[in-house]
Amino acid sequence: MPESTASTEWFETARFGLFVHFGLYSLAARHEWVRSREAMSQEAYDRYLERFDPDLFDAGELARAAKAAGMRYAVLTAKHHDGFCLYDSALTSYTSQRAAGRDLVREFAEAMRAEGLRVGLYYSLLDWHHPDFTVDVHHPLRDTPAAREPRDMARYRAYLHGQVEELLTGYGPVDLLFFDFTYPGKGPDEWGSQELLAMARTLRPGILVNDRLGVPGDYVTPEQYQPDRPLERDGAPVTWEACHTLNGSWGYDRDNHEYKDPALLVRMLVESVACGGNLLLNVGPTGRGALDPRARQTLRAIGDWMALHERSVRGAGPSGLTAPANTLCTRAGRRLYVHLLAWPLRHLHLPGLAGRVRYAQLLHDGSEIGFHEQDGAGHEHVNMAPPGQPAGTLTLTLPVTRPDVLLPVIELELADDE
Ligand code: GLC
Repeated sequence: MPESTASTEWFETARFGLFVHFGLYSLAARHEWVRSREAMSQEAYDRYLERFDPDLFDAGELARAAKAAGMRYAVLTAKHHDGFCLYDSALTSYTSQRAAGRDLVREFAEAMRAEGLRVGLYYSLLDWHHPDFTVDVHHPLRDTPAAREPRDMARYRAYLHGQVEELLTGYGPVDLLFFDFTYPGKGPDEWGSQELLAMARTLRPGILVNDRLGVPGDYVTPEQYQPDRPLERDGAPVTWEACHTLNGSWGYDRDNHEYKDPALLVRMLVESVACGGNLLLNVGPTGRGALDPRARQTLRAIGDWMALHERSVRGAGPSGLTAPANTLCTRAGRRLYVHLLAWPLRHLHLPGLAGRVRYAQLLHDGSEIGFHEQDGAGHEHVNMAPPGQPAGTLTLTLPVTRPDVLLPVIELELADDE
């Protein structure tokens, strides 16, 4: 199999992407697993197919919203577990093209590229519509006679590979594939994972493929879980991306109001970067394909923060320092970014940084921050330095009033590259 020729550089520079879950389940508006959860027959689920009309799905608007939020790539569900395809596949008529005359994958890919965003496609390995996908515990027909029907996974596998080939050949340069997912009884053998990976790498050298084929991919994907330290495999750091929802559901979920606050989402983004990872933040457009007001507001609020603080995230990574209490630290070259989770009174003490900082400012307004240091002998270099700090401590003097931004950031210009 061709070795990965993927460079994760664009991905690890971008740090922040948009996940878009849209499909027939968006009309049910109660989670993208609705067909499985309610063990719905295909006929019952077809009521959404018959009414599928994404008249408000505007890929250009999505791309602009993502970019304004500070995201630099986006991933759309080309097919979800229900098997419905948002593109014009020659291998099935269960598509948005047939249902509504729209190839949403094409619209999405073109719109993202027009805004300079990288294009990712999510593809579900599960398929509750395909007659040869064997009925398992997740399948909506698990408690029906269909569970005992003979089904031929080899035929499904050929379909799956054919569909991925369509996506990689018909839609311009696809930068990333997000496969989903592997579980007991359905894994690399059933999916033909090695062959799929090999095909992706042959058709699109440099493509990034995630890790849910059940074989190692180019990056790992913790889901609705925020790592608080760098992720490793066999002791070596790995490229990773945490994916998160706005309210716990990936697909539009009208009555679910468990929204994460924009300030929390910014913190999660920064925590990812501080631990060497990315954040892929999901929106679930409504049954008509529009972003709901809450999603819009959230993206806008994050964008307002990103407009002022982008460089503490994009192109940044772990600081290599032990972050002082109540801070998250990132670094890009000689610039160290201290994100203040709690605003202290007047002073912030940074152990070990004495003598290493040339200049300090608040990032949002570029206002200088004064500092003083204690040298190795414990002598303070400026009068009025607070007592009791260990030698080598740098002490910043902050305004009493916390800046009115979701997460205040101090930018320190370091004298050295260590
Ligand atoms: C899970 C869910 C799926 C969702 C995905 C996103 O695997 O099954 O509905 O699309 O996570 O990562």
